[in-house]
Amino acid sequence: MRILRRLDELYLGTGPWHTGRKTIGVVPTMGALHEGHLSLVRAAQAECDLVIVTIFVNPTQFNDEGDLETYPRTEEQDLAMLGELKVDAVYFPKVEEMYPNGYATTVSVAGVSEGLCGAGRPGHFDGVSTVVSKLLIQTRAHRAYFGEKDYQQLQVVKRVAADLDLQVEIVGCQTNRDEDGLARSSRNMHLTAETRAKAPGLYAAMQAAAAEIQAGKPVDKSLAKASKAITKAGYDKVEYLELRAADGLAPLEALDTPARLLAAAWLDGIRLIDNIAVDPV
Ligand code: PAJ
Repeated sequence: MRILRRLDELYLGTGPWHTGRKTIGVVPTMGALHEGHLSLVRAAQAECDLVIVTIFVNPTQFNDEGDLETYPRTEEQDLAMLGELKVDAVYFPKVEEMYPNGYATTVSVAGVSEGLCGAGRPGHFDGVSTVVSKLLIQTRAHRAYFGEKDYQQLQVVKRVAADLDLQVEIVGCQTNRDEDGLARSSRNMHLTAETRAKAPGLYAAMQAAAAEIQAGKPVDKSLAKASKAITKAGYDKVEYLELRAADGLAPLEALDTPARLLAAAWLDGIRLIDNIAVDPV
């Protein structure tokens, strides 16, 4: 496994990969790797000849300074996990090299990045779109793997790749969950035993709402009921709980197209997100 810390190392280390007919896959991450990330790595390995995992805690996508500071950094453990999976390269760029003095370009996606997490985290998706564009250009991967866990992010990244002709296939992978249904997330590390026990209430309420909507109950009533169930389960606040078109995220008042139910909720000061498919029956 090659460990590449500078851009010239990435170019030298992976440049020759482009001369053959090999398919290159990239899995962009911010580290603090867990089984959710590893499921993307395995999907990439199943479909590509060579796999690069990038680890970069991207400061420009954090709208909260404290969140950036406390974001878990577990480099040694991450490398051990990736070594075990035998990934071909790990790229760990430095902030100074990604955003050197004078850096002035932002990639900003309209439409799909507005509302949902875009409303609660101003500037977040500009940061994501910009860093993902850079990582895709730097690695020149043929395929890039993203989790449905961050469904709006996946939609934003698809838009960027199409609009900027990045010549990369964006592959969405299913959300990986703990046994009790909680979506795996680096932020789950911040939960105490007590709050961890309450956390699955979000997914459970979303599943119940999805079943109701599929059964023909009015969307607004089902969502209001689910919102109450989430706070009853111990969450402090539901930031949003919305039914959107699965493709393009247009708001929906009825289930007349394949949809996605998306939520963000706060548990003991920690912001958790989740989403599930709701298909018309
Ligand atoms: P990060 O939160 O580290 O996630 C990296 C990738 O892993 C994302 O595509 C995310 O959707 C996916 N992922 C996280 N938890 C998952 C789970 N439980 N199941 C399936 N996939 C999961 O998302 C980011 O980093 C950053 O915004 C990034 C795209 C790297 C840009 O900085």
